[in-house]
Amino acid sequence: MCGIIGIVGKEPVAGRLVDSLKRLEYRGYDSAGVAAVVDGPGGGRVERRRAQGKIRNLEAVLAEQPLVAQNGIGHVRWATHGAPTVTNAHPHTAGRVTLVHNGIIENFAELKAELKAAGRTFESDTDTEVIAQLIDAELATGLAPLEAFKATLDRLTGAYALAVLVEGADNLVLGARRGSPLVVGEGQGEMFLGSDALAVGPFTNRVIYLEEGDYVAIDHDSARIFDASGASVQRPVKVVPASAVMMEKGNYRHFMEKEIHDQPEGCQRTISAYVDALTARTAIPGDVDFKALERIQIVACGTSYIAGVIGKYLIEQLADLPVDVEIASEFRYRQPALRPGSLVIAMSQSGETADTLAALRYCKAKGMKSAVVVNAQESTMAREVDVVWPIHCGPEIGVASTKAFTAQVSVMIALAVAAAKARGTIDAAEEQRMVRLMLEAPRLIAEAIGLEDALKEIAFDIAKARDVLFLGRGPMSALALEGALKLKEISYIHAEGYAAGELKHGPIALVDDQTPIIILAPYDSYFEKSASNMSEVMARGGQVVFITDPEGARHAPAGARVVVTAPASDPLVSTLVMSAPIQLLAYHVAVVKGADVDQPRNLAKSVTVE
Ligand code: F6R
Repeated sequence: MCGIIGIVGKEPVAGRLVDSLKRLEYRGYDSAGVAAVVDGPGGGRVERRRAQGKIRNLEAVLAEQPLVAQNGIGHVRWATHGAPTVTNAHPHTAGRVTLVHNGIIENFAELKAELKAAGRTFESDTDTEVIAQLIDAELATGLAPLEAFKATLDRLTGAYALAVLVEGADNLVLGARRGSPLVVGEGQGEMFLGSDALAVGPFTNRVIYLEEGDYVAIDHDSARIFDASGASVQRPVKVVPASAVMMEKGNYRHFMEKEIHDQPEGCQRTISAYVDALTARTAIPGDVDFKALERIQIVACGTSYIAGVIGKYLIEQLADLPVDVEIASEFRYRQPALRPGSLVIAMSQSGETADTLAALRYCKAKGMKSAVVVNAQESTMAREVDVVWPIHCGPEIGVASTKAFTAQVSVMIALAVAAAKARGTIDAAEEQRMVRLMLEAPRLIAEAIGLEDALKEIAFDIAKARDVLFLGRGPMSALALEGALKLKEISYIHAEGYAAGELKHGPIALVDDQTPIIILAPYDSYFEKSASNMSEVMARGGQVVFITDPEGARHAPAGARVVVTAPASDPLVSTLVMSAPIQLLAYHVAVVKGADVDQPRNLAKSVTVE
């Protein structure tokens, strides 16, 4: 969603705001804007600069109309209410108040009607502007800025992270969070607000994660924090590791490419956190009794959902433990039948996805024990669950998830093996064999990434296609979904992922000599069936890209347009190894098409609205 930054500083603020916004651009990129308290006769005056599109457009505006100031706020927008125009770009101003907002105000229509009836006029179509108008109206009654802010927060329904400037209170930025994340960054004689630690990363690594409902007033030397009831509270300062605030592309052209190449290390760090390499046994953090569990419910969206589907295959097969996986946006509204003896596992890179969070809360309200497999360890989900299962792949900046996906799958594999051991479906020797396979997986992922040049070649062909089908069986059917999702989201080519056995029940009608069919088929127990499906599509002119392993390549029916031979891997870890080829294929197709790989149109990294 949107990203926000606020600074009460000692240095020129415009460049600092822009630096932060570039770090937040992954959260939204429809428009961007800044506002700052510029010096003027008789006290500070707030001025704005805004631009449609990418941050470089805002930089151009600032180059023509500089903002000379030390305190300010900034925003990158992913439009919800109102088209991505300059008028709808944040910051929004009403009277003495200028603010930026991430989230959605659900009761904005009734508030707007009330404010209009009181004679206030609106400049934009956004829900955000009502917040500025409300604070200004409260100020007009004689309230001090902090009181006017609190009175306004009490009237808002919905989700928000806010950073607010008030004319006449020059060294003050107000902030609040409910449903959207906000951190305070502590500097030396300077204070910052930001959507995440990355945003304040260029200025400080000392970060306070605000709690749900908190609001805050920052000036040069202090951050006064209050909880939702208005009581003054202290929140701990955390020193964020350098890796969490670094975002460099290194020698790579895009973050996505770098993140694909980061996967061996990300998976290795993640797997190491879930196994004891010395004894080759699983070592799952947190207190979950897999033996006593009756069922697992996984809730997630998008790529995280697909990691959950792979988890279901593995956990049910290895541990004989029933697992349901559901897209969170459906789950949360359909009143599913749940029982307290189950564990809910939310899967989320960001830990902030609104639908997943709501589904998680629903399960908790039903008395279920809760866990999250998450990258952002200070996220809302991580703070609300009984057990946090972190992935250790480092911040993911590319909007299309890659290294978070394989790290999530790594956790699923570890949970499946641990659950199987706890439930007696495998013995200690088998557990050790599997842990060794897990420890070898990062090397195999690196080998699979070595197929990049071959995939680059294939990408030229795929880039010409109108439709692409991805097929697989077993866990590879889930990876087929992921291949299709990756391709469509960054290259805008229509793609579908199917369980290969479903082919004859409809999708085979799509097959003609213009349709690339990407079949994921390592030489496992499903191979013969996948090979038959391959013959069926080739008989109808389908252009098959067969992604397999050395044994599969030997047994593949003749006639594939291309055979891609990934390293041989055990079925326990083959989804990890086969991920790299589909990610690289999508990446290079998008590059051939000249698409904006890291910031595909209409998408946002962290979807904090439903
Ligand atoms: C696709 C992608 C999205 C996310 C989804 C959930 O490449 O990244 O489908 O997986 O928006 O996000 P998280 O995992 O943050 O809950």
